[in-house]
Amino acid sequence: MSAMSSNTIFLVAPLFIRDVSSQLEWSYSYQTQWPGACKTGKQQSPINIMSRQAVFDKEEGHIHGPLVLRGYRDVTVTSVNNGHTLRWDAVPDLVAPVMSGGPLSGNYTFMQFHLHWLSEHAIDGMKYPLEIHMVHMKTGLTVDEAVLRPDGLAVIGVMCEIYSKNEESEHALEEIMPAVPGLIDPQARMAEPTSIDLTRLLSPDPQSYYTYHGSLTTPLCQEAVTWIVMDKPITISDDQYQEITKADVGGRDNYRSLQPVNRVVYRSLASCSSIIAPSLIGTLFAIVHCLSSTFGAGVNKGICLIGNFKRRLFGDSVKQCAKL
Ligand SMILES: *[C@@H]1O[C@H](CO)[C@@H](O)[C@H](O)[C@H]1NC(C)=O
Ligand SMILES: [Zn+2]
Repeated sequence: MSAMSSNTIFLVAPLFIRDVSSQLEWSYSYQTQWPGACKTGKQQSPINIMSRQAVFDKEEGHIHGPLVLRGYRDVTVTSVNNGHTLRWDAVPDLVAPVMSGGPLSGNYTFMQFHLHWLSEHAIDGMKYPLEIHMVHMKTGLTVDEAVLRPDGLAVIGVMCEIYSKNEESEHALEEIMPAVPGLIDPQARMAEPTSIDLTRLLSPDPQSYYTYHGSLTTPLCQEAVTWIVMDKPITISDDQYQEITKADVGGRDNYRSLQPVNRVVYRSLASCSSIIAPSLIGTLFAIVHCLSSTFGAGVNKGICLIGNFKRRLFGDSVKQCAKL
């Protein structure tokens, strides 16, 4: 399953560099046999993010100002089915998007995004049908260096929910869908570079997120990732979901099981304010909300019940609402 096998010489180096997961054989069906930090790590991903337990960073001790996303509107990519996921890689040597601010110190260069179905993260026990991961590497590092540093990588997680076919729900993934039918088979590639607007794949409110320190969710599960999980999902159409999940990724789905949390999850100010109202008064009200667990419990119980409904649909067991 080497990235080298079915490729032109021109593309060998860039694709190899962009693959942060191990080149060893591994499968989602045998996750307990994944090696290295996957087995021994204590800060593994994905996790179930409990909004009520997430620390609202009102002193900005952890989240320093807004997340800054530069150059995401026009990104030149190629795509591949690497046998585990569908992945879109930024073409090297062009100006790649750069993320900074928020919980990050320094700049992080965008490398690739890929898809998981079901979602890997859960929010208040709720899994989504699809999760997009936008993988960034600390600017100036090589992959080998980045995976050995706790701050080497930063990954944005975007949840996708399905709405029945309409123009708005198709908007987010519109630009990547033409490539998907050509990526059904493992090792299939669309090597012709195309330009896409990555902001479409971001949350409707990119300042509203949870952040925590964790790992890659594929072997070797290195604990090198600042996770930024958007709490506002984007919407995709059922047709798009059906088309994507036809892809052969070695099984029916491609998500890692939830890992123990045992660490602090932070939430941005915007993630608090938008619960109540996207206004100044709403923000002030929300600060109270985020600091008050009793007030939060009712809201979360509601979300959890929705989560249980979806779990019945998808047959995934995450947690008990009664514990809230
Ligand atoms: C990040 O990139 C910006 C824009 O290129 C630059 O001005 C800034 O100095 C960089 N920051 C670091 C820490 O390298
Ligand atoms: Zn991923």
